[in-house]
Amino acid sequence: MCGIVGYIGYRETQPILIEGLKKLEYRGYDSAGIAVHTGQKLEVTKSVGRLANLENRLTGEPLCGTVGIGHTRWATHGKPSDANSHPHTDNSLKFSVVHNGIIENYLELKEELVQEGHRFLSETDTEVISHLVAVEYEGDIVKAVQKAVRKMRGAFALGVLTEHEPDRLVAVRYASPLIIGVGEGEKFIASDIPAILEYTRDIYILEDGEMAVLTRDRVDLFTIEGNPIAKDVFHVNWDLMTAEKGGYDHFMLKEIHEQPKAYRDTMRGRISEDGRSVVLPEIKLTPEQLRGINRVHIVACGTAMHAGMVGKTVIESLARLPVETDVASEYRYRSPIITPETLVIVVSQSGETADTLAALREAKRCGAHVLAITNVVGSSVAREADDVIITLAGPEIAVASTKAYTSQLIAFYLLGLYMAQTLGTQEEARIAHILAAMDSLPDQVEKILAQSDTVKGIAEAISKHSNLFFIGRGIDYAVALEGSLKLKEISYIHSEAYAAGELKHGTLALIEEGVPVIALLTQEDLYEKTLSNIKEVKARGADVFGIANEGHEAEAAKSVDTLFSIPRTLPLLTPALSVVPLQLLSYYASLALGHDVDKPRNLAKSVTVE
Ligand code: M6R
Repeated sequence: MCGIVGYIGYRETQPILIEGLKKLEYRGYDSAGIAVHTGQKLEVTKSVGRLANLENRLTGEPLCGTVGIGHTRWATHGKPSDANSHPHTDNSLKFSVVHNGIIENYLELKEELVQEGHRFLSETDTEVISHLVAVEYEGDIVKAVQKAVRKMRGAFALGVLTEHEPDRLVAVRYASPLIIGVGEGEKFIASDIPAILEYTRDIYILEDGEMAVLTRDRVDLFTIEGNPIAKDVFHVNWDLMTAEKGGYDHFMLKEIHEQPKAYRDTMRGRISEDGRSVVLPEIKLTPEQLRGINRVHIVACGTAMHAGMVGKTVIESLARLPVETDVASEYRYRSPIITPETLVIVVSQSGETADTLAALREAKRCGAHVLAITNVVGSSVAREADDVIITLAGPEIAVASTKAYTSQLIAFYLLGLYMAQTLGTQEEARIAHILAAMDSLPDQVEKILAQSDTVKGIAEAISKHSNLFFIGRGIDYAVALEGSLKLKEISYIHSEAYAAGELKHGTLALIEEGVPVIALLTQEDLYEKTLSNIKEVKARGADVFGIANEGHEAEAAKSVDTLFSIPRTLPLLTPALSVVPLQLLSYYASLALGHDVDKPRNLAKSVTVE
């Protein structure tokens, strides 16, 4: 996720671009840059680090002109650096591009261009686009962009400028957001409304496969194929604060709703075109090395640890390797048995959690191969691990982790399948079957989100209690732990998560009339057993909210007080669905209690102390 802004009009563009980028910094902030058409040529200034670094650079040497594009980056291909910052240009410096998204086939496109004599200065996928547009240019930037785009696979929102046409700015949207702002004598492009709200409230929202050609006086809209389209202007009534959250009341709610996209982005380019195998070129561990691994340790903190617990089940069942999970703050101090045959997987959204980093260093000191699953390219964890799988959830602002957690689950599914196909522990057909089921997850999450109101009602009832329990068996237990943490974190309601069969060994004493129990019932082979545990708490007066698979409604409804059904998927994949109602439950409970949802008391987004 990156932020794009563009301007064509009568004002100096540099301040408009910089102010716009400030509003988009939530989309990425590891480097930034702008390109301005001076009237004679394109000039580009960029800088690694926060936007302030770019501003400092521009203070001495401002870029003057009334047409320009800008970008704030959240690295995916290549570390944060000046060279990898956008805008990217072709070798003639006459075409400049800002991009948000991922070009899946950029390596093959780059190889072809290199053979034709093009020189590349960055590690990014985006630089390929500026070269492609230059190659296709025959006097019309719109046609050149259309031809270039047809060669690209993946997700992209683009802003394109050429020195040859100082009065046109081209924008394209395909699976990454982009809007067009319409002002009197001036037009804008942006990844999100806040970037341009100061100048106009009239916008066009581009859909996938659409492009816009902006001049000072008009906006022409086309499909990528070049067919003209008509669209109504959308008038924005939101204030700036609401707009920054995409119209949602809180970042957490926005991030919960961004999960279908985060799933798609994390899977994108990592599944073969025929859908039958996983492609993880980022993993340097060779098949021979992988065959030499005899145990796996998963180490993380908090929510990332809960993703790791699902990861344990995934790897054990698919790759048939023994997996231990450890809370990172405990790992170093228990003298774990770590050898060069141990694969240590560290999981961290931020990539900066002190305990996780210390565990990573300890694992490396003992000679283990360390694989990181993280959301931040260039973070300490990403830099120090031997291998990195980046989750493409985009920056997560709310302290309560939601889309980062579910993207970690997706990363574990991909990794487990990759290990299985490399080790030959699963039939090719089973791998294809699981991948097909994963492909449906984003739409299934959408279905769950459409039932948010049902969860809201339950959350309001729950918010009146000061104690509650989450129960589940197997992989459902890992999700119960995550549901309980989320609720504690933002609603401050005390809750405990228990393996459902363990309750009767002590905790059952706490169940009395009216105590809410949230029961996960998604594992077919454990269904009957969990139902028995539900009966145990019901018999003591508990009020049970069940989460079960579609198709079990009639039967499950007899045992619980309220039932929420999730769409059917494979047993191993249910956490990617069942956690969503639990995220909504904690969100609405916190809201009902009037707490600061995005910034809960006593907590920080990144915990960089032991
Ligand atoms: O950045 P990390 O994933 O390493 O952070 C680990 C935990 O601090 C984090 O998951 C925490 O538990 C979340 N705030 C929970 O929502």
